[in-house]
This record gives sequence, C-alpha cells and structure tokens, in this order.
Amino acid sequence: GLRDELLIQDILRLKRDKSVYIIAHYYQREEIQALADFVGDSYAMAIAAKNSPHDIILVAGVDFMAETAAVLCPDKIVLTPEPEATCPMASNISVNDVLCYKKKYPESIVVCYVNTPAEVKAVSDICCTSSNAAKILQKLPDNAKVFFIPDQYLGSYLAGKLGRHIDVFSASCPTHASISEEHLLQLKEQFPDAKVLVHPECYPEIVALADYVGSTKGILDYATQSESKIFIIGTECGILYSLGNNNPDKTFILASEELICPNMKSITLDKVFYSLQYLQTRVVVPEEIRAKAAIALERMIEYAS
Ligand code: 13P
Ligand code: SF4
Repeated sequence: GLRDELLIQDILRLKRDKSVYIIAHYYQREEIQALADFVGDSYAMAIAAKNSPHDIILVAGVDFMAETAAVLCPDKIVLTPEPEATCPMASNISVNDVLCYKKKYPESIVVCYVNTPAEVKAVSDICCTSSNAAKILQKLPDNAKVFFIPDQYLGSYLAGKLGRHIDVFSASCPTHASISEEHLLQLKEQFPDAKVLVHPECYPEIVALADYVGSTKGILDYATQSESKIFIIGTECGILYSLGNNNPDKTFILASEELICPNMKSITLDKVFYSLQYLQTRVVVPEEIRAKAAIALERMIEYAS
C-alpha cells in the first residue's frame, strides 16, 4: 500500500545518506529483496560483506548470517534489523557438543555448516555452506575422521554423494521438514514434466526424488539454465521472488505450503527503517571468538575458490 511505498522511499533515502550496504537472503520478504543492494545464498552473502563498498552493512537474514559478516569484516559496522531472528538449527548446537566430540576423537576434523553460532565456528576447523560443502570435503584427507555439524540431513547427503563416512550431529531445519514424501509424489504425478529442485536440508527421501539438489543460488541457477518450463521447488517460499524475476515464462510450484521460515520473515520494512535510522542493532562478536571463527570462515573461502 501507500504506507509501504513511503517507507521504501525513506529506507532508500537513509541507505543513501548514511552509505549503508544492504545484503539480503533469498528467503527475505519480496519488498526487502527488492530494496537490497545484494541478494544471495549464505556463501555469496559472506563474500558480498567482505567486498562491501561501504563501511556500514545491514544484513537482512537470520543471526548467523549477520554474525558471519561481522566476523569477516572486523573494521565494518554490521547491523541487524531484528537480533531475535535466529535459526533454530544453528541454535541447537553448542560449543560443548563440539568439545565433547573432540575429546573423544582429538584427530578429527570438525566441519561446521555456516548455520552455526560464531562461538561454535570458533571451535571448528573449517566452515562450509551448502554451495561449497562437497568441494570442501573432497579436499580433506581421505582417511580423516570428519564430524559434520549441525545439519544431519546435509551431512548424510554429503556422505552418500562423496561415498565417505561422515559423523553427523543431529540437528535439522524445521522449515524444510514440512515437505512430505507423499505430497511430493502427488505433485510429481500431477505435473509429470516438472523438474524437482530441492535444498539438501530436506529429508533424505525428498532429496532422493529430486532432479537437482543444491543451495538457494544453485536452485536459482539450475532453473534459469534449464530448458524445462515447470519446476517443483523444495526450499523456502521467499526464493519464488527471484525465481519468478529471472524466469517470467516458467512456472514454480512449492513442494509444501508450509515452506516458510518465520525467523526470516520477522524482518520487515519497519524494522529495516529503524535499523537504518538509529544504526541499530549492531552485531558484535567478542574479539577472542571472532578471531577464531574467522579462521574457519577464511579457510572455507580458500578451499571453496
Ligand atoms: P543457502 O546457503 O542455500 O542460501 O541456505 C541457507 C539456509 O538457511 C537454508 O535454509
Ligand atoms: Fe534456519 Fe531453516 Fe530458516 Fe534456513 S530455513 S534459516 S536452516 S530455520
């Protein structure tokens, strides 16, 4: 409505006047993606933060995304419009979970998914995202004992794909868990020409039915390059905005009506406005943790490129 239009004008004015670089995830509300300077998957967001042309970055995403930017950019100011936008999967692993494993297997390599708190990254050896996890794991020594945290489904998917044993932690994403095998089979029957594109956070039986498994950016690229005209999408609904913009002639069907991440959706135009107006809330990671988490993240960037 008109109020949103005015709010967007105010946000764009504040953003310009205060030289703030806005980085958003594909799961953000459409209006937030539309005003961002950069929209990407979690890996691309981290790289965009590093390459930010401005000293103030606003991250429209969940807490681990803002923290990652803060860890990688110690000289910049990183803002979150909603500090309580958490990722339940990331919140389900603790430093102690990693230290207990390490005590048992001191020689192991701990690979942490980017969906982790900074203090967990600080006790991990290398970080990864769904877009680079396979590439990174392939570069680890064949005989290394690997502990993948915290997503059990991404971990077991990688173990299967690479044909190597990986110990996995037991957390998972409640949003991706909303896709049922029965419903997906129904959709496939109803739309026999549709390609099925899913995120590796989905249940293994869902991943097994997919034509493509990858990060949000991977799904977007696959759909854009594919000759197919119809797709069943197994990831959060926010991605439909970029899918539709890039592919106006293609049809996208969500694999479940409940593919909504409430934390991602808790970021609104009002909160972005206040965040820019007062330059709040600043994301601060204690230096001792930041420096250690940066090692795992910088190692990811080195191994991924
Ligand atoms: P991507 O890195 O694929 O964007 O995934 C982030 C995420 O939280 C998926 O649920
Ligand atoms: Fe976390 Fe799942 Fe939301 Fe991604 S979709 S941020 S993994 S809860």
